Amino acid sequence: MITNQCVGCHMQTTPYVSDQKPANSGHSFRVTSFETCRQCHPDPEGLVVFTTGAVSNQISYVKWGLDVWASTKAPEALRLKYGTRAWEYTTPGSLSPGGPGPTTSEQALIPDNIKKARFDLYLVLYDGSFGIHNAPLATTLLDSSLTWIQAELKK
Ligand code: HEC
Ligand code: HEC
Repeated sequence: MITNQCVGCHMQTTPYVSDQKPANSGHSFRVTSFETCRQCHPDPEGLVVFTTGAVSNQISYVKWGLDVWASTKAPEALRLKYGTRAWEYTTPGSLSPGGPGPTTSEQALIPDNIKKARFDLYLVLYDGSFGIHNAPLATTLLDSSLTWIQAELKK
C-alpha cells in the first residue's frame, strides 16, 4: 500500500526552511519523521512504541528461554565451557557478548530445536525494525522459537 515502498518511510524529505531548519534529503535512510504514516495511522508514534515494545519484550523472553536451556539442559560439555552461550553460534550474535560460542564440531551437540529457535530469534532481531516492517511475521517467528525451546526444556 505504500507508494515507493522502502523509500516511502525511509527517505521522507522536507524542504529547506532556514539555516536552523535545513532541507532533509532523506539519504540517511533513518525514519526520522512519522508524517507520511498519518495518511493511514492516526497515531503512528503510539503504534511504534506499542509494536517495538511488544517485539523487544518477546525477543528478551526468547533469549531468556535459550539461556535457561543453556544453564539447565545443555550437554555438560557445552554448559561448563560456555555457560549461557551454550545455545549460540560459534561467533555469537549481539545478544550474547563476552566470548565465542561452541566450536563448529561442538555445534553438533546442540539440538535442532535450539538451532531453529536461535535462527528465528536473530532473524527478527537483525531485521532491525522490531516489528514495524511486519509485526505478524515477527511475532509468529518468535512464538515458534518459544515452542521449540519449551519442547527442549520438557525433555
Ligand atoms: C512502514 C514504514 C517502513 C517501510 C515501508 C520500510 N521500513 Fe524499514 N524501518 C522502518 C522503521 C520505523 C524502522 C526503525 C527505525 C529506523 O531504524 O529508522 C525501520 C528499520 C529498518 C532497518 C534497520 C535499521 C537499523 O538501524 O538497524 C533496515 C535495514 C530497514 N528498515 C530496511 C528497509 C527496507 C530495505 C525496506 C523496503 C524493503 C523497508 N525498510 C521498508 C519503517 C519502514
Ligand atoms: C499507505 C498506508 C500506510 C502507511 C503510509 C503506513 N502504514 Fe503502517 N500499516 C498499514 C496497514 C494496512 C497495516 C496493517 C494493519 C493490520 O494488519 O491490521 C499497517 C500496520 C502497521 C503496524 C503494525 C504492525 C504490522 O506490521 O502489522 C505498524 C507498527 C505500522 N504500520 C507502522 C507504520 C509507520 C511507522 C509508518 C510510517 C513510517 C507507517 N506504518 C505507514 C498501512 C500503512
